[in-house]
Amino acid sequence: MEDKSLSRRQFLEQTGKATMALGVSAIVLPTAISCNTAKAITGSTAFSTPYTQQPLPYSYNALEPEIDALTMEIHYSRHAASYAKALGEATTAEGVNTASTPLEALLSNISKYSTKMRNNAGGHYNHELFWKCMAPKSDNKATGSLMSAIQRDFGSYEAFTTQFSDAGKNRFGSGWAWLMLSNDKKLKIGSTPNQDNPLMNISDIKGIPILGLDVWEHAYYLKYQNKRPDYITNWWNVVNWKFVSDRFDTAMK
Ligand SMILES: [Fe+2]
Repeated sequence: MEDKSLSRRQFLEQTGKATMALGVSAIVLPTAISCNTAKAITGSTAFSTPYTQQPLPYSYNALEPEIDALTMEIHYSRHAASYAKALGEATTAEGVNTASTPLEALLSNISKYSTKMRNNAGGHYNHELFWKCMAPKSDNKATGSLMSAIQRDFGSYEAFTTQFSDAGKNRFGSGWAWLMLSNDKKLKIGSTPNQDNPLMNISDIKGIPILGLDVWEHAYYLKYQNKRPDYITNWWNVVNWKFVSDRFDTAMK
């Protein structure tokens, strides 16, 4: 187990550097912030999620045939956009200084906020990550240190994809499947309901999200109807392994 006092000191040092880099005067530290969440905030801009919806990194039809253009358009421009809008309303209503409170820090302290904040901070963060976890179909696979860690923690790449797929298939109702880096720097697979995620202090599973899969019906129903397993099988073809591998490397630092 990592020395938490050391990690917090490192966090403070790193936060200072990040603060200077961001050009802001101070970052308010939640007292209950976890070691890894601290790293998630400070480790790289790859982990710093803006409170507003960012441009989709590809066109609506870029992931076809695995994910159809209409699903992508509705998912991004209506569902995800509504989470970002409602998150803005919640932060205003609840007095969150979004300039000085990283979204990841808010998530790690989510029990102190309303249900509206929980649902929409999670919804916004999860979708911003989800878009980046995908890219037009390619032969890419997990590479380098991520592949080594997958083989170490799950036995094989095939065992990993099976376990992750099962997490998505077995999520009753709406939610997410996650590959995450736990406090002991091991890769873990889990699932959260609704728009919860492993950064939240109320979550049963905890860690830095490395790869996320949206298994809400709005993510697949137009093309796949009730066949969630088919959506998950095809989704593997559009995972952006370059992004996911880089994210893992950053989280390990
Ligand atoms: Fe979604």
